[in-house]
Amino acid sequence: TDILARTRSVIDEHRALEGPLLPILHGLQEEFGYVPAETLPIIAEALNISRAEVHGVVTFYHDYRNHPAGRHVLKLCRAEACQSMGGNAIAAQISQALGIGFHETAKDGSVTLEPIYCLGLCACAPSAMLDGEPIGRLDADKIDEIVQEVRS
Ligand code: FES
Repeated sequence: TDILARTRSVIDEHRALEGPLLPILHGLQEEFGYVPAETLPIIAEALNISRAEVHGVVTFYHDYRNHPAGRHVLKLCRAEACQSMGGNAIAAQISQALGIGFHETAKDGSVTLEPIYCLGLCACAPSAMLDGEPIGRLDADKIDEIVQEVRS
């Protein structure tokens, strides 16, 4: 019921806006750190749209989590400039080193890996952001440092 009450108050805060769905999802992620699955039907009902529609929007945008994040959040840029600088190989190495794929959180709760689409650091591609700190020119050494940091 706590989730319910908090969800309703977030919805009420934003429902008068034009296009309230994204602000609501954003608000819920701020409130809970993720968008709990049980909030989706409540949103659908409040906005008078289908659950499928809400679900579609949540999965279309890459910003919303469906589970709580780990202690660290690593966002790896998947946009074009980073791709062209070996981003795919870097993503594979990081994913292997952390033992998780995108949108997953390590079992020990240490880190969540998420894609992001351009960090504005294209000049230092391939880039990432660890807990809000930008990291450019990713290479094997930097990946090692990141892995050390999230495991410590
Ligand atoms: Fe990766 Fe811009 S494309 S930072």
